[in-house]
Amino acid sequence: MQTLKVGLAERSYPIYVGSGMLHTCELLLPYLLDNRAVIISNTTVAPLYLDQLKTNLEANGVRCDSIILQDGEKYKNSDSMDAIYDSLLRSHSERNTPLIALGGGVIGDMVGFAAATYLRGVPFIQIPTTLLAQVDSSVGGKTGINHPLGKNMIGAFYQPLMVLADTQTLDTLPDRELRAGISEVIKYGLIRDLPFLEWLEQNLEKLLARDKEAHQYAIARSCQNKAEVVGNDERESGERALLNLGHTFGHAIENGMGYGVWLHGEAVAAGTMMAADLSHRMGWLTGADVARVRDIFKRANLPVSGPSMPVEKYQELMGLDKKVSAGKVRFVLLEALGRAVMTGDVPESTLKETLEACCD
Ligand code: NAD
Ligand code: GLY
Repeated sequence: MQTLKVGLAERSYPIYVGSGMLHTCELLLPYLLDNRAVIISNTTVAPLYLDQLKTNLEANGVRCDSIILQDGEKYKNSDSMDAIYDSLLRSHSERNTPLIALGGGVIGDMVGFAAATYLRGVPFIQIPTTLLAQVDSSVGGKTGINHPLGKNMIGAFYQPLMVLADTQTLDTLPDRELRAGISEVIKYGLIRDLPFLEWLEQNLEKLLARDKEAHQYAIARSCQNKAEVVGNDERESGERALLNLGHTFGHAIENGMGYGVWLHGEAVAAGTMMAADLSHRMGWLTGADVARVRDIFKRANLPVSGPSMPVEKYQELMGLDKKVSAGKVRFVLLEALGRAVMTGDVPESTLKETLEACCD
């Protein structure tokens, strides 16, 4: 097992990455001071892992309530939040009762937001069970839900007490979801860790074949990168925005196609290709760099172009991005492989060229 740390002064917390940690719950016990917890999961993950977690905690004297939500990005909304609040109120969940998120990024984001808002804030713990959640969404405290007008538009920054990433849970993850997680792993290499990109180029097939050591390495290195960025810029006033490489395009794809049709990681892969193309048109990436980015996404069997939508639709949806400032869309682009930059100075004609070139 490896332990990493997100350094945020009194709100610092550990990330544990290892295999088989759900078999014992000893790492969780120090955080359950009132011997009570509410585990929130969904209809897919609960049958796989809830009993194991609950039984272990209860054997240690912890009273566990559970809330099971519908599975899917399309349920990441205010109705699901109401279902959580109703259940917490009915079971008299108290200020010191931690909420435990057991699931992928959808569950983690919603439970974090419920924890930030229920009784004006209760403790919460992340137990991410998808690759995407283990390398990205469970770390850093971005929580929230979608709104019909935009993705992740309602939410809060709210850090967990700890993150427990048990790589064994990935054994049951469908291949398509595994690949979607790899998209966010590649992101760290592209924005700030060129040696990691090179490692990924050499070890991609191992990740796809679920090699345990490769998973452990990729998850820990991704979390290390994320922890450094979050430690420097928790509230995204600068560097943290670079973690959104490909997301301005990607969120437009997710929203435009209907939440859940394209997986988040798939939309980010296509969006990153668009960002790479735009970076080339801005004179930063070489053609060979763009080909290298395309190659690694293709090898991971991820989309390298966006779905067919009118250019105006893309532009309208990108206008909803959280990075929009003074009405101007700002893009995370690549000055070079391993070096991301944020810019609001993209000529409209250049953006149109990218959208026309990179969509089916
Ligand atoms: P997800 O939570 O929908 O999980 C994907 C699917 O896998 C679901 O059907 C889920 O039930 C299932 N699943 C989860 N664990 C499983 C397991 N071990 N075995 C079998 N099936 C399992 O999707 P995701 O890709 O984990 O997360 C995507 C979400 O994360 C998006 O809503 C995105 O906006 C959000 N996100 C948030 C951040 C952040 O910083 N907060 C970062 C990136 C993405
Ligand atoms: N996934 C982007 C962030 O956490 O900032």
